[in-house]
Amino acid sequence: MKRYLTTPIYYANGAPHLGHVYTTLVADCYRHYYRLADDDVMLITGTDEHGQKIERTALARGIPIDAFVRERSDEFRRTWRALGIGFDRFERTTGDAHKMVARAFWQKLAERGDIYKGRYDGLYCVECEQYFASGDECPVHRRPLELFSEPTWFFRLSAYRERLIEYIRSHAEFIRPAPRRNEVLSLLENDVLNDLSISRTSTRWGVPVPGDDEHVMYVWIDALVSYLSALGDLDSVAVNEYWPGAIHFIGKDILVFHGIYWPAFLMSAGLPLPESIIVNGWLTVEGRKISKSDPRTIVDPVTVAQTVGNDGLRLYFLKTVTFGRDLDFDRTHLVRSLNADLANNLGNLVSRFIALVEKHFPGGFECSAASLAPGDRGLLNKLRESATTIENAMAGVGVAQAARCFIDSAAAINAYIQEKEPWRIDDPERLRTVLWVVHQALSDLTVLGWCFVPRIMKTVREGLGLTGTPRWSDIGVFRRNVRVSRIPAVFPRIEGEVDLKPAGH
Ligand code: MSP
Repeated sequence: MKRYLTTPIYYANGAPHLGHVYTTLVADCYRHYYRLADDDVMLITGTDEHGQKIERTALARGIPIDAFVRERSDEFRRTWRALGIGFDRFERTTGDAHKMVARAFWQKLAERGDIYKGRYDGLYCVECEQYFASGDECPVHRRPLELFSEPTWFFRLSAYRERLIEYIRSHAEFIRPAPRRNEVLSLLENDVLNDLSISRTSTRWGVPVPGDDEHVMYVWIDALVSYLSALGDLDSVAVNEYWPGAIHFIGKDILVFHGIYWPAFLMSAGLPLPESIIVNGWLTVEGRKISKSDPRTIVDPVTVAQTVGNDGLRLYFLKTVTFGRDLDFDRTHLVRSLNADLANNLGNLVSRFIALVEKHFPGGFECSAASLAPGDRGLLNKLRESATTIENAMAGVGVAQAARCFIDSAAAINAYIQEKEPWRIDDPERLRTVLWVVHQALSDLTVLGWCFVPRIMKTVREGLGLTGTPRWSDIGVFRRNVRVSRIPAVFPRIEGEVDLKPAGH
C-alpha cells in the first residue's frame, strides 16, 4: 500500500522550534509505523519561502531575500537531521519545478472558470498571511490587522460551500480528530463563505500569476501546491500513485487552509482530495503558544535533544500530548517522565535480562514453546494484545495511547521477571524457559516501540541478537535461539536540573 505523508512546509523566516518539531515527529512516527506493515511510505516536508512576511523579515535584516530563505531552509533541514527525523523529500517553494507546478495548478482553476479579477479592500494579518473579514487585531498573533486595498484575482470559493459540506459529512475520516471536523463543518454551515483573494500586487516575492505578471500568487495557494509538486508534475506517475493516499499532518492554526481552501482548490482542479488531514493542538509555554513571534516561548529542540536524546524528546511528546489537545511544556515533568519510562522501566529491564542470560547461559541457549507454563503464555498473550491496542490507537490517531501501551508492555515484562524471580530458580530447564519467555517478549516489545523510540529499539535488538528492521508480523513469532550481547545503557538517568534554554537566552 502506498502512503504519502506530509508535514506543513514551514515558513523560512525563523529557526525551527518545538512546535514545528512536534508535528514533524508525529508524521515521522507514522512513517515508521506504516513501514512496519511493509507499506510503501513517502514522507515530505519542506519550507514555505514566499510571501510578504518573509520578504519583510529579510528586508529588516538587510539580507538578500534568496540568501535569507536558503539559510533558513537549510536550518530546518539541519534540525531534522540533528533530531534524527527522517524525510524522503524536502520541498522548497522557491524551486523552479515547484513554481511550474504552481502555475499549472492555477491554470487548471482558471480553465474551470473559477478565477476572476476584482479588488480586495479589507484586513490582513501578515504573520498568518491570512485575510480577515472584521476585527482590530489578529486573534493568534495579537497584532493589529493591516488594511489592504489592491487589485486581485479571486477564487470562487463560495461556489464550493455545498460540495465541501457534503464531502466532509460523508467522509468521517477526512479531518481528524472529530472536534476539528466539527469545527470546519460549523464554519461552513454557519459562516458566510466569501470568494478568496488569491493574488497580490503589493509584493513581488512570489510565483507570478500565469498571464498577469503584475500579480504574484497568494502565498497559501503556492504553499499548498507544494504537497503535489513534491511528487512531480500534476500528471506524473508519482502524483497518480501516491496522491490519493495523502495524509496531511498539520497544527490547528492552519485548519481552515487545509480543511476548506485546499479541498476546494483540488475540487476545482479536478484532482482527488487527500485521504486525511490530521490536526494537532498547540504546545505552549506558560500558557502561551510556542511561536517565533513570541521569544518568551522559544525552546530550542536541539538543546532539549542534547539533554534527553532524540528518542527521549520523541517519546516524551508523542506520549504526553493527548493527540489533538494543547500541552504546556514542563521541563521538570519531561525529566521525571523519561527517567521513569526509559531509565527505570525499559533500561533496567533490558540490562537485567542481558546480565541474567550472560551469567547463566553465556553462549546462549535454545528453547521451544513446549515447556511454557500458563503464566508464561499470559505474558506473551499480553504482548499480542498490546499490538492490537496499538494498531487500534494508531488507526484512530491515539498516538499517546499507543505510546503508553508500549511503555506499559515494558512494565508488564518487568512484572513478570519480578514475579518469576529467575535469580531464585534452581532448575536449569525452568530458568531456560523463563528467560526464553522474556527474550520472546522483549523481541515483540522492540516492534511495538519501533515508531516511538527507533534508535533505542535498534540497540535493544542488537542486545537480543536480532538483526534487520522489524516487521509488525514478527510479533508473536517464536524464536528458538536466544543469544545476547552487552549493549550500552539504553537511557542514562538524567540527574539534577537541565538547562533547556537555547544559547544566547
Ligand atoms: N507555511 C505555513 C504552512 C504551509 S503548509 C502548506 C505555516 N508555517 S509555520 O512555520 O507557521 O508552521 C505551522 C505549523 O507548525 C503548524 O501548523 C503546526 O503544525 C506547527 N506548529 C507551529 N507552532 C506550534 C505549536 N506551538 N504547537 C504545535 N504545533 C505548532 O503555517
